[in-house]
Amino acid sequence: MDIIQAIAGALAPALSMTAEDAAALIEFQPDSSRGDYSLPCFKFAKVLRKSPPMIAKDLAEETFPPIIARAEAVGPYVNFFTDRAAFARETFENPPTLVSDAFAGKTIVIDYSSPNIAKNFHVGHLRSTVIGGALTRIFRAVGANVVGVNHLGDWGTQFGKLIVGYLSHSSEKAVERGGISELQRVYVQYHEDAEKDPSLDDTARAWFIRLQNGDPEAVRLWSWFRELSLREFEMIYERLGVTFDAVTGESFYNDKMSAVVDELRAKNLLTESDGAMVVRLEDYGMPPCLILRGDGGTLYPTRDIAAAQYRRTVYGFDKCLYVTALDQTLHFAQWFKVAELMDDSYADKLAHIPFGLVSLPEGSLSTRKGRVVMMEDLLNEAVRAARSIIDERSPNLADKDAVAEKIGVGAVIFNDLYNNRIKDVVFSLERMISFEGETGPYLQYTYARASSVTRKAGVTGETNYSALSEPLSFDVVKLLSRFPNAVAEAAEKYEPYIISRYLIKLAQVFNRFYHEIRILSASESERPARLALAAAVKNVIGDGLRIIGVSVVDEM
Ligand code: ARG
Repeated sequence: MDIIQAIAGALAPALSMTAEDAAALIEFQPDSSRGDYSLPCFKFAKVLRKSPPMIAKDLAEETFPPIIARAEAVGPYVNFFTDRAAFARETFENPPTLVSDAFAGKTIVIDYSSPNIAKNFHVGHLRSTVIGGALTRIFRAVGANVVGVNHLGDWGTQFGKLIVGYLSHSSEKAVERGGISELQRVYVQYHEDAEKDPSLDDTARAWFIRLQNGDPEAVRLWSWFRELSLREFEMIYERLGVTFDAVTGESFYNDKMSAVVDELRAKNLLTESDGAMVVRLEDYGMPPCLILRGDGGTLYPTRDIAAAQYRRTVYGFDKCLYVTALDQTLHFAQWFKVAELMDDSYADKLAHIPFGLVSLPEGSLSTRKGRVVMMEDLLNEAVRAARSIIDERSPNLADKDAVAEKIGVGAVIFNDLYNNRIKDVVFSLERMISFEGETGPYLQYTYARASSVTRKAGVTGETNYSALSEPLSFDVVKLLSRFPNAVAEAAEKYEPYIISRYLIKLAQVFNRFYHEIRILSASESERPARLALAAAVKNVIGDGLRIIGVSVVDEM
């Protein structure tokens, strides 16, 4: 039973509105001294021609279903107090589904991670991967069909430069051995050379044109660079638990770009500017969107437009989300506008989901200051820190390496998802790895604790839910009932942190309960209900962490 629906059904006639409309006005009441749900009555004053406190008083007199123990008017509010045993039974035996009407059956494309090949995967890409991965699972949980796409940066004139750099400074062996780092090295070398000999840029451009035209040697080198980059990225994705439904990078659109250019031309949207072709956007307060370079090469926005058209045809999306840093805001605003000018039937389904920067406690990350942190080093450092905490706290734990991996990586992921996306993330290893405080390890620890209690319990008798009516237990029950709301809100706002914070709150109230209330040594009449509570906490923390992408362990 949905309790809000039940209350709304009882109130609807007096409010002359549908139960559904009434339900939308009923609020969850976290402070139990004021009930479990409440209804503010300000909105009804005009129609009912009475003061809100009067309305509240009258509504409180209505007859409610038995799960509502009493209704009380307090000023302009009606507060509803549930029958706590019935509420707990309902929460545990009949938990509401996570699937929400707003999203069930909707198709959502999520473009995320999308690193550039032949470049190291750095912490900047971590955020897109972690946030996008979390959104993917959040939308699946609420019932949407999600297509997770890795829009790899694998096309553009820089690959001509990379080939030139490779041919003059490296070898097959060196690249096989050094991987991406070697490719980065030759790319830097190329730029040094080109500074001395600008004609190299022409050579590089010629190589990219060869690549665009399918020249076998150019394609062979490029595919090889791409494959080895993907292999390195794959190791990180595996550790982060991220998979994609499609790895269609920018190169995938090479043969779909001329159609975009033709359409733009046919719709009179293209203008020449300094030899390049652009769509002018001054009417919309933006600089022009670059479509074609002077030499005919396509650009990042052109490939995004081609990709959006492709996804629209192939997936028929209700939403297409782009999870990238805040500094790409103008890029998305520009090409979203161009897409709309070409065809206004779907541009409103495109959305940029921006996020803030990553910094270290000592300052921002920058290449210039030598503070570029590689994803792999960072994960390894977190795992090492987790391992040393485990060695100290649980020296006899089985499989310490596997547990340390889950705790270290989980700490990094959780740290990234604990605030609004737009807020900058500070990478303080010490803080994020701590078993106390608002951290991933704290949740994993609470999960393991709840898990161990239920494991030790053995067979129990009949569940007497009134054992959960005292405040510490009931706080936990109440919060458990809100899990679906947290997931739905995270989906609506594209904000995984709503789930992270919900889980921290749940762990805090559960740990208070755990310290104050006997569980395993409770009386026969209380034990089964308290165990059911621990089991429900274990399940919700487990599901919640899985949704945001953090693994759990049964012991740590
Ligand atoms: N490769 C780009 C980068 O690393 C991100 C691509 C984001 N997705 C897109 N469709 N533009 O900055």
